[in-house]
Amino acid sequence: MEALRLILLFVHLVGFALLLGGAISQFLSGTFRISPAVLWGSIIQLVSGLGLAAPLRGGGDAEPDPIKLVVKLVIAVMIFIMVFIPRKREAVNKGHYIGIITLTLANAAVAVFWR
Ligand code: HEM
Repeated sequence: MEALRLILLFVHLVGFALLLGGAISQFLSGTFRISPAVLWGSIIQLVSGLGLAAPLRGGGDAEPDPIKLVVKLVIAVMIFIMVFIPRKREAVNKGHYIGIITLTLANAAVAVFWR
């Protein structure tokens, strides 16, 4: 179980790198298109996050707060919708990208600070 949790956590961190790194690099280069890194990052975060939300820690106090997991899921679904719907568009608004980056940072903050 612990090995599975660590593998899922590793994949989750790779997805985080793709999503945040992809979004910031698009933003800084001024090309406001949904890149494959951003799209795949958001999908990987949803799938690996749902896996991590399973009771893999032997139950009890070691498991993350279910309310925290619901908050993370809602934010991740919002990011996925913001990325999936305009994925074929030439470009989205600058504000749309700022929204994706802010929500991604918010979800990482929820992961780290909500104990
Ligand atoms: C954009 C979406 C997401 C981002 C940016 C994100 C970010 C992170 C980060 C940075 C960590 C590492 C924190 C640490 O190990 O201290 C983490 C862990 C975790 N995430 Fe996410 N996450 C996202 C989506 C989700 C979703 C949808 C779920 C499930 C509902 C989820 C569940 C978890 C769990 C359970 C952990 C803890 C792993 C552990 O230590 O056992 N995440 N997340």
